Amino acid sequence: MSKIIIVSNRLPLRVEKKAEGMKFKPSEGGLATGLGSIYKEGDNVWVGWPGAFFSDSTEESNVTLRLKQENMLPVFLTQEEIHNYYEGFSNETLWPTYHYFSQYAVYEPEFWESYKRVNQKFADAVVSIAEKGDIVWVHDYQLLLVPQMIRDKFPDITIGFFQHIPFPSFEVFRLLPWRRELIQGMFGADLIGFHTYDDMRHFLSAVSRVVAKSNSSGIIEVGNRSVLVDSFPMGIDYDKYSGLAISDETGEREKRYRESLGDVRLILSMDRLDYSKGIPQRLAAFEAFLTNYPEYREKISLLLQVVPSRDKVEKYKKLKEEIELLVGRINGKFSRIKWTPIHYFYRSLPINAISAFYGMSDVALVTPMRDGMNLVCKEYIASKAHEGRGVLILSEMAGAAKELSDAILVNPNNQKQMVEALYRALTMPAPEQKKHLDVMNDSIKKYNIHHWVKLFMDRLTFIKEEQKQQA
Ligand code: G6P
Repeated sequence: MSKIIIVSNRLPLRVEKKAEGMKFKPSEGGLATGLGSIYKEGDNVWVGWPGAFFSDSTEESNVTLRLKQENMLPVFLTQEEIHNYYEGFSNETLWPTYHYFSQYAVYEPEFWESYKRVNQKFADAVVSIAEKGDIVWVHDYQLLLVPQMIRDKFPDITIGFFQHIPFPSFEVFRLLPWRRELIQGMFGADLIGFHTYDDMRHFLSAVSRVVAKSNSSGIIEVGNRSVLVDSFPMGIDYDKYSGLAISDETGEREKRYRESLGDVRLILSMDRLDYSKGIPQRLAAFEAFLTNYPEYREKISLLLQVVPSRDKVEKYKKLKEEIELLVGRINGKFSRIKWTPIHYFYRSLPINAISAFYGMSDVALVTPMRDGMNLVCKEYIASKAHEGRGVLILSEMAGAAKELSDAILVNPNNQKQMVEALYRALTMPAPEQKKHLDVMNDSIKKYNIHHWVKLFMDRLTFIKEEQKQQA
């Protein structure tokens, strides 16, 4: 019986080392939910990094045994690999370049060497369990070389690759000294997926410029194999978020939070700590709003949740300081004894607290400078399905903007537009809010995470069939 092997840098589970021993926490991520129905079945398996460093092999064996019960195979990283492959090449070279922050990119040959070695490590882990007829699905920018490394060992195996972050325009991509190797690594896959049509076009254009290969309806001939490139906008677990919104636990939390906050109207800002998310720009727009519309002082507050992320990387450390200075300054300037303009949380929150934040917020301000898709905006919409009240302000630079044209779309570099969007959102009549929410809910309910997985798998089967017919 053939099996499905999912490969991603992070496993859908967090292992935390505590004084009392190891803790295994399930990840709340969209990918984990979407693929949950797949990897838990039969012999299917998820290969990835458990997210912590283990100094001795007994600890590693314990983790491996424990994860085996969950159909997971861990790839352990040394401290050097975490520094050079994960923090370095993945998050100081590829991440900034692919998000159009190329001025932040570090071009360090040592990072590249480590990236190659760790990609080989992931590929070897897959090869150690793969058999003829298996399907391998590799995820994201940390593992761009893995498809070809697996293909070298298993020439006929089925490999899908999905990139969860943007693919930049050729003029940005070409800045990478390793651009050719990266494309060739991806070519090991039979199907290469992106969130949006634009990302797919940028990739095809890079392919034509860097390795002089053309495509016909997204199909590229690589040696004697056809590789299909297509776009698949990722959805969320719709029922989970719309259901959580009306659960008792979320309701109790909302009641409790409301008692502390009084009757201010809330604007929500919720992201991982990342410069691609445009958090300082959003704070500046909020400050400008309070300056230009003083009648809203004491009437609105910003709920600012920042989820800790990559905080060993210099640019992320700096960003945290910048955010904290801004929050301090804005609160210092406008606070009253009875009113705090910004409630700031730098931590992960349990899913019911997140759901309560979605439920309580009159407006969600999702304004990344650049984002592959962005699922927070979809979760907000789903959480508002029953209530029918709430306004989404969404950046044009998020992949989700292509689908959610009923949101108030803004350019995050245009502060005046963001301020006016806030005013429009806070004054939008209830029937208009409901009309927009209904349109967006219809769409994200249909194009949910399960639909996304099925679409990708169907296209993978399709291209494999095409290859067979050509052979
Ligand atoms: C983005 C990436 C994922 C990554 C996640 C969290 O969504 O597309 O691949 O796992 O950020 O980042 P981290 O570095 O903590 O895994």
